[in-house]
Amino acid sequence: MAKEKEKALWSGRFSKAPEEIMKKFGESISVDWCFYKEDIEGSKAHGKMLHKIGILSNNELEKILKAFEEIQEEIESGELIPNIELEDVHMNIENRLIKKLGDIGAKIHTGRSRNDQVVTDYRLHLKKEIALIMDLLKNCMGVFLKRAQKDVDIIIPGFTHLMHAQPISLGHYWMAYFWKFERDLKRLNSALDSADVSPLGAGALAGSTLPLDREYTRELLGFREISKNSLDTVSDRDFIMDLQYALSTLFIHTSGLAEDLIIWNTQEFNYIELPDEFCTGSSMMPNKKNPDALELIRGKTGGVVTGLFNLMMNLKGLPLTYNRDLQEDKKFVLENIATTKMVLEILPQLIEKIEIREENIQKHLEKGFLLATDVAEYLVLKEVPFRKTHEIVGNIVQYAEAKGLDFKDLSMEEWKGFSQAFDQDILEILTPQKAVSRRETKGGTAAKQVLSQINEGKEIIKEA
Ligand code: ARG
Repeated sequence: MAKEKEKALWSGRFSKAPEEIMKKFGESISVDWCFYKEDIEGSKAHGKMLHKIGILSNNELEKILKAFEEIQEEIESGELIPNIELEDVHMNIENRLIKKLGDIGAKIHTGRSRNDQVVTDYRLHLKKEIALIMDLLKNCMGVFLKRAQKDVDIIIPGFTHLMHAQPISLGHYWMAYFWKFERDLKRLNSALDSADVSPLGAGALAGSTLPLDREYTRELLGFREISKNSLDTVSDRDFIMDLQYALSTLFIHTSGLAEDLIIWNTQEFNYIELPDEFCTGSSMMPNKKNPDALELIRGKTGGVVTGLFNLMMNLKGLPLTYNRDLQEDKKFVLENIATTKMVLEILPQLIEKIEIREENIQKHLEKGFLLATDVAEYLVLKEVPFRKTHEIVGNIVQYAEAKGLDFKDLSMEEWKGFSQAFDQDILEILTPQKAVSRRETKGGTAAKQVLSQINEGKEIIKEA
């Protein structure tokens, strides 16, 4: 960061320069320099508009546009380094323009304030980032679809309360996350929509005495519409909250997925083998292969959700309109965007490479009387009221558990001892395969239903 003495662009009404510590305290350039492209893009559009309404001549506009091209090159080649003395990205770039063009450069900020400029940059930036995140998420959803298709016939215990509940298709499990991500995609799309509004022309808070053509800058910058109220425009940070909420929800999902996979990877479960590429070892224990990528996906969730609350706390109770508090609205979001992009790059690769240990899973399917509901529903079809069947089967579980037996070890006599409604055909339903294939409810775990979800999912990805 450069630190040559520069006069602040607002220094006119001051008799003393800010204290050194005030400059450090007040700067945002260390965070907002990444908006330089959008700042230049916004300024070019603003310049073209000023030309259209007669404030800049042909020659002035031409010079300004050319100077902005050069400034962008200077930034990208590392020749122009931001200066903390100039506070933020807006004043660093405007200052450079004035250095290059003198009085002509000094015209660019006509009818504009950093208050409408900063949200213009921010909205342009988020539109690009959200589109990138959405692409990564779509790719990730595609991997879950493929994985679901591949694993549709693998049966695993389904859990509630982390206790064996009913057998399910592993494909069904992957599709559960596909649908969570599908909703995340919708939330991101709606955040994209909120960002897609042009603030330029709101000025500091009240608009301008100059005949600014807001529609023209909107069109040049590719925003869907212009904002409706200048006071709202410079204070509105809903579009950032919307994104933070969408990212938080996505991370709530990936953290739960990571937790399941971490559990499945333990020696106790041993359902899966994680790819070496996304695990690391221990500096002391040579035996260790730890599920670090998944733990970090789980662990970064706190930071992402904190970003949402940080922003909400910042915004709570702020008086209209712009207040400097709002400068604190960037750091967490930008960090969260970077984290999200990494997670969405890692996760699909990891999911693609997981090996399923079917032989081990098979052993677990014998535990926990996974077919108890099937037995109860069998009796329902023999016209026993469900509450009664529930109790009968509960008693059978208690009996079998005490004897160390499973349903399939019981004799016909023992079955009949619990209810006369039991018949030879009970034996036909007592396999996990049957249990899964018989769950044909729409959205249920039978392969046929899972395949129909997969087909629907494919359509969604194709259209998205
Ligand atoms: N750096 C400021 C921010 O990020 C830009 C707006 C400054 N406006 C002001 N009135 N001081 O919010």
